[in-house]
Amino acid sequence: MKLAIADPPYYRRAQRWYGTHRGHQNGRGKPDQHPDAATWDQLDTHLELLERLETEFDGWAYAGSPDYLAALAPAIPAHAEIAVWRRGNAIPNGSRIRHLWEFVIVRVPDGRTARGTGLDVDDVLDSGIQTRNRFVGAKPEAWTRWVLALLGHDPGQDEVVDLFPGSGAVLTASDGLLPLPLA
Ligand SMILES: C[S@@+](CC[C@H](N)C(=O)[O-])C[C@H]1O[C@@H](n2cnc3c(N)ncnc32)[C@H](O)[C@@H]1O
Repeated sequence: MKLAIADPPYYRRAQRWYGTHRGHQNGRGKPDQHPDAATWDQLDTHLELLERLETEFDGWAYAGSPDYLAALAPAIPAHAEIAVWRRGNAIPNGSRIRHLWEFVIVRVPDGRTARGTGLDVDDVLDSGIQTRNRFVGAKPEAWTRWVLALLGHDPGQDEVVDLFPGSGAVLTASDGLLPLPLA
């Protein structure tokens, strides 16, 4: 099976977090700065990514923040599931409502939804962010293992692509099973 993990720049934070503008607070000079980051502040870029995932992969996971989950609805396939990563702390973003969780939209590959077709796994993960990883948006190792389990990942059969490597945390947590990103 061809699987993808898509952890793109979050909608309406991309330029602020990953742009090359003056005043960038975290990651200056690090490889997570992108001159075209602002494209990810456009909803259409995210909707197109979701459509691409559904077209090109047998299974996929797309990560994001709850304040824009509803905006993605037109591009979420009816057979996808929503899983919750409960971070337990909020990233300050000027919002009055503090977001203590993030979602992962999961398109489980056909044939892997029934009991016995893979590891049993919860659709909620409780795991704090990893403070030793200074990259903005980096995911803890537990997150990657959880997402792979949600996809019913079979190391012997699957090709897994990490579309937005960032800190490389996903690659590291997957024990080197992931090939280089497509784009
Ligand atoms: C939410 S973070 C993902 C972090 C990654 N999963 C990790 O654990 O470190 C989004 C990542 O997308 C990457 N990225 C790739 N193309 C980008 C673009 N055009 N604009 C902004 N960020 C981009 C950034 O490097 C950033 O680290």
